Amino acid sequence: MKNLHELASRLEGLPTAEGLALVADLFPGQVTFSSSLGQEDQVITALIAAQNLPIQIFSLDTGRLFPETLELLARTEAKYKLNIRLYYPGTDAVESLVAKNGINGFYESVENRKSCCYVRKVEPLKRALAGKQVWITGLRAEQSANRTEMKRVEWDEANQIIKYNPLLDWTYEQLLDYIQKEKIPYNPLHDKGFISIGCAPCTRAILPGEDARAGRWWWEESKKECGLHGK
Ligand code: ADX
Ligand code: SF4
Repeated sequence: MKNLHELASRLEGLPTAEGLALVADLFPGQVTFSSSLGQEDQVITALIAAQNLPIQIFSLDTGRLFPETLELLARTEAKYKLNIRLYYPGTDAVESLVAKNGINGFYESVENRKSCCYVRKVEPLKRALAGKQVWITGLRAEQSANRTEMKRVEWDEANQIIKYNPLLDWTYEQLLDYIQKEKIPYNPLHDKGFISIGCAPCTRAILPGEDARAGRWWWEESKKECGLHGK
């Protein structure tokens, strides 16, 4: 099954758990899931674990994550008895970047920020996806205007891979209900006003009513994407 439209129509209307199982079945050993340990990702991990699906789970450890995120990673592995494979930025690339722009050079320009995201996330992502046929993410349409245009199943040109966003249509409320009902472990920062959580120096809490991604790269007027899911 290589046809994107055929896959999309087979997934149409299927509950999320069944969709994940179908994809794992259609692409044996070829499916990988990127987890940032966010609320969406934790739901997907729980669904993979509950069905013992042969889907690899990985995370990009940028070197600048919150300690709470790494602690959650360890807690999640222990609870669900699974391994989350970690990918790291290349040593040479990080050393050159920091030598050129400084340790927190990302605050100085969008260009510097994008270079940092490239070195710490985008390049390691390419290695994580190499040789796989399907990439699962926790993207939701509600997260930003940019994301409302995404499809549940799409072709990722940059990484030449089928991208499957099983929670695309989930609302934030639905997500929170599910996490509570299933007692899914989550980042304690969510209880302190953080919604979307990325690297520590580039994420802050938001005020009630603010946009979900307002706390990411808050000093920028950009589209607030790091290059994993568009420019
Ligand atoms: S980001 O592009 O702004 O960083 P966001 O934090 O909204 O993305 O997360 C959206 C999806 O991107 C997550 O559900 C996950 O699939 C993937 N993702 C983001 N950051 C990481 C990370 N550090 N490691 C693995 N996957 C990630
Ligand atoms: Fe660098 Fe910030 Fe991007 Fe993390 S989010 S990779 S620290 S610029």
